[in-house]
Amino acid sequence: MKISTIIDPIEKRVAITPETAVKYKKLGFEVVLPANFGESAGFTDEQYITSGARIEVQDIEDVTLYLCVKPTNLESLKLNKGSYLIGMLSPFKNENVLKQIFMKGVNLCALEKIPRITRAQSTDILSSQANIAGYKAVIDAMAEYGRVIPLMMTAAGTIRPAKVLVIGAGVAGLQAIATAKRMGAVVSAFDVRKAAKEQVESLGATFVEVEDSENGETVGGYAREMSDDYKRKQSEKLAEALKVSDIVITTAQIPGKPAPRLITEEMVKTMPSGSVLVDMAAETGGNCELTEVDKKIRVNGTTIIGYSDFASRVAQDSSQLFARNIYNFVELMLKDNKISTADEIIQATLCK
Ligand code: NAI
Repeated sequence: MKISTIIDPIEKRVAITPETAVKYKKLGFEVVLPANFGESAGFTDEQYITSGARIEVQDIEDVTLYLCVKPTNLESLKLNKGSYLIGMLSPFKNENVLKQIFMKGVNLCALEKIPRITRAQSTDILSSQANIAGYKAVIDAMAEYGRVIPLMMTAAGTIRPAKVLVIGAGVAGLQAIATAKRMGAVVSAFDVRKAAKEQVESLGATFVEVEDSENGETVGGYAREMSDDYKRKQSEKLAEALKVSDIVITTAQIPGKPAPRLITEEMVKTMPSGSVLVDMAAETGGNCELTEVDKKIRVNGTTIIGYSDFASRVAQDSSQLFARNIYNFVELMLKDNKISTADEIIQATLCK
């Protein structure tokens, strides 16, 4: 059976690394890749060839599995009938085009639909990518911020440390907190799930509490929509915290829903001049009402960043993690040297 991939004009991450090419060979796959495919993530054709892959300049035929990261050109892909396309296919956004591809006889596995169960952890691309994205969001915010981050005591005087506020302490948020702490910032964080308090504090940050007994956690451990009364109290707390925050990273999301709108234009206008707000939820509507997807804008002295590709901006390491996740997924599909979709994890990802 042949494993291959697609080249994307925008996405820099790759779904097959030299490391996983070796492992696919061991599983019995033939790995055939387009020329220069790994260049955007820093992998050369020579590295793939050394790992046992074959590089082909012509169209690659008779492919069984196409592995990809986040295809931006789904409409124009030429895929074998009977093959599988596996990657972040954005099943809600791309519902119609995915239906057309499925009608042409291509099987589709959208990795965003992997259930968050213990058995599936090694395949969980959302967590591995959100982790790196949370790190990169802080790095980019700090690069944009025109001042130093840690406390500096010099003969010419003292510089106070930057104050970082992280909203949403899930996977991306916790990594953002840890990164900001490592850089020497004074960090506080906010989440609707009461269980997040302990995690935030264990990273050395302060948990911003809303005085309300409502807990935003569902039985499954995810966040849910809060009552109007809670939202009002949260908004007041946030407004106070934003006035003194130099860098704000927002990551609040409720799975399957548009991002909760937490920051208004009025609130942004009260932020310190030179402050930076990174809205990681930009792609699902934004936690701030001013955010523009994939843009950096300035409002009243505050820079608002709405990039949707933070993981892609650290393409080599993100690819390493993504490629291992997708390899673990493919391993679950292989039963007696044949492709099977019987496993509940694979079943959950199928799109029709
Ligand atoms: P997650 O589900 O692990 O964390 C989200 C957190 O937000 C949860 O802890 C939840 O309790 C909290 N939350 C929900 N509603 C809230 C509210 N009203 N106020 C405060 N906190 C609230 O999600 P993950 O994986 O950390 O991703 C976070 C966001 O980052 C998502 O929107 C995701 O799509 C986005 N993301 C963006 C990337 C980019 O490049 N821009 C890359 C990866 C993820």
